[in-house]
Amino acid sequence: MEIINWKELLYPYEQTVAELLIKFKSIQKECKNLGVYCPIESVSARVKKAASIMDKAGRKQISPDRIEDEIEDIAGIRIMCQFVEDIYKVIDMIRIRNGKDMHIVEERDYIKNKKPSGYQSYHIIIRYPLSTALGYREVFAEIQIRTLAMNFWATVEHSLRYKYSGNIPDSIQKRLTNCAEAAFRLDQEMSTIREEITNAQRLNEIKQNLVNNILENIQNLFFVAKLDDMNKINREFIDLWSANDVEKLKEFNERLNIMAELYRI
Ligand code: GTP
Ligand code: MG
Repeated sequence: MEIINWKELLYPYEQTVAELLIKFKSIQKECKNLGVYCPIESVSARVKKAASIMDKAGRKQISPDRIEDEIEDIAGIRIMCQFVEDIYKVIDMIRIRNGKDMHIVEERDYIKNKKPSGYQSYHIIIRYPLSTALGYREVFAEIQIRTLAMNFWATVEHSLRYKYSGNIPDSIQKRLTNCAEAAFRLDQEMSTIREEITNAQRLNEIKQNLVNNILENIQNLFFVAKLDDMNKINREFIDLWSANDVEKLKEFNERLNIMAELYRI
């Protein structure tokens, strides 16, 4: 049997997950800058370890020279969403990229068709184009898209499955199935108050940005304005801030902006 140079084999996959991670994170950043809701709650990535690749190749009777052609999840990206509806927005985002910076090979909808284990998630297998020192090539990557609740369940189930080498005792298996049901219902319940939640989150974000803006303005004015004026401004800010009135805070900040402008002149 030939000896596998794991470092060499895994390097392109390291590059793939690093690039994909940047791409999905920049979508998050962009949404934040634009002040719009982001369907991506968080992203993580991993490259399958040599030991797991060996396990999988053994289990599926894949010969060492076929590993890169037959194991599709050596590069893995996981995208977490707050709501089931967001998963489909993320899927659309990926479909739009199809044929551009990635090629969709297969989609597996374990949400509409949940696995017997109770596992729910949406998988997209892609071919990802890479420019390497040795030239152009494409590798497989697996993108898993799921809600936080689905992820919680899958993470726990995975640990148990690993601990019991796949043979989870019946009593625990039954509990796990119940948990999968509960996670499913949690997602359903969350969806019913989705608008309420996203509005609240947007408002909090706006308020935070505003207060940060005001604090920065006050800090800058402090160097140029009269101490008496600054004390007055500070008191007014504390009052408005305690009253938690976004509209009034906005007006206040506009006045600070004008003041700063006058001082500049
Ligand atoms: P493997 O399951 O990885 O051998 O590959 P496969 O070709 O059967 O693909 P499948 O789409 O079934 O699973 C791919 C990945 O989804 C797995 O590597 C896991 O990360 C995840 N997954 C699939 N089924 C389950 C499950 O029942 N429980 C958990 N926790 N994760 C699962
Ligand atoms: Mg499987």
